Amino acid sequence: MKRPYIFCHMLTSLNGKIMGPYMDRPETEAASEVFYRIAFGQAPYYKHQGWLSGRVTTDDNFTFYEKPAINEAADPVPEGDYIADLADIYYVSIDPSGKLGWQSSDLVYGDTRAKVIEVLTERADNAYKDLLRRLGISYIIAGEDQLDYGLALEKLKDLFGIETLMLGGGGILNWSFIQAGMCDELSLVLAPVADGSRDTPSLFQAKEGLSANKAIGFQLEQVEEKEAGILWLRYKLQG
Ligand SMILES: NC(=O)c1ccc[n+]([C@@H]2O[C@H](COP(=O)([O-])OP(=O)(O)OC[C@H]3O[C@@H](n4cnc5c(N)ncnc54)[C@H](OP(=O)(O)O)[C@@H]3O)[C@@H](O)[C@H]2O)c1
Repeated sequence: MKRPYIFCHMLTSLNGKIMGPYMDRPETEAASEVFYRIAFGQAPYYKHQGWLSGRVTTDDNFTFYEKPAINEAADPVPEGDYIADLADIYYVSIDPSGKLGWQSSDLVYGDTRAKVIEVLTERADNAYKDLLRRLGISYIIAGEDQLDYGLALEKLKDLFGIETLMLGGGGILNWSFIQAGMCDELSLVLAPVADGSRDTPSLFQAKEGLSANKAIGFQLEQVEEKEAGILWLRYKLQG
């Protein structure tokens, strides 16, 4: 395979939400620990070299909608990709037009320290690439206007040695990769909680111009009951 093996690993409420008031419940806190243990922590089930996040997820959790500190008068950067440091694990950020206000090339999640890789398209301008270079953040360019999935994934494998990649949300990112045929497995941690919010994101969300809405099937591989009524479900994608 020219791309990494890809599993989508997510924590949801019983009604498939990935964000919202249910997150403040103790059941969700317990489920977050289960979620973390399965893919991170000391003895994880999945041994991946990177996890992939959509631009909104990164802004919500790590860059907090800061404006990037760009220098419009920066000298032109060399063409093509930029590889700063190699690492054991990477946070792979899908940021097609270069919006995220990174402050550092390192990101800490629980007890995991990762190096950031930005996945850009040709829409990202010179000043943004210059900022990434100044911060020592690697970037790859995949696609003109739209993300070229195959190229991005091939580069992640060839340039950074990512053999297994976690697709880590949000719903827009997950669904776009699934619709593009770029997901092999779904790992779902189901917390015994719900709320009825109408406008919070779900596990999978189509976005106009980004992803189609072709329904797909899943084949159940494993069901495991964890502590406190939390379920861990693993499925293969049927297409
Ligand atoms: N419960 C969980 O396990 C979990 C996990 C992760 C995230 N979350 C939550 O999910 C929420 C965000 O989810 P979301 O679905 O609204 O947003 P998202 O998937 O995080 O980000 C969507 C954005 O990412 C970029 N993007 C994603 N796929 C792309 C593609 N195929 N091609 C080009 N660009 C692409 C686009 O950025 P541009 O708009 O810049 O073009 C798009 O608008 C956050 O609140 C986060 O905390 C929960």
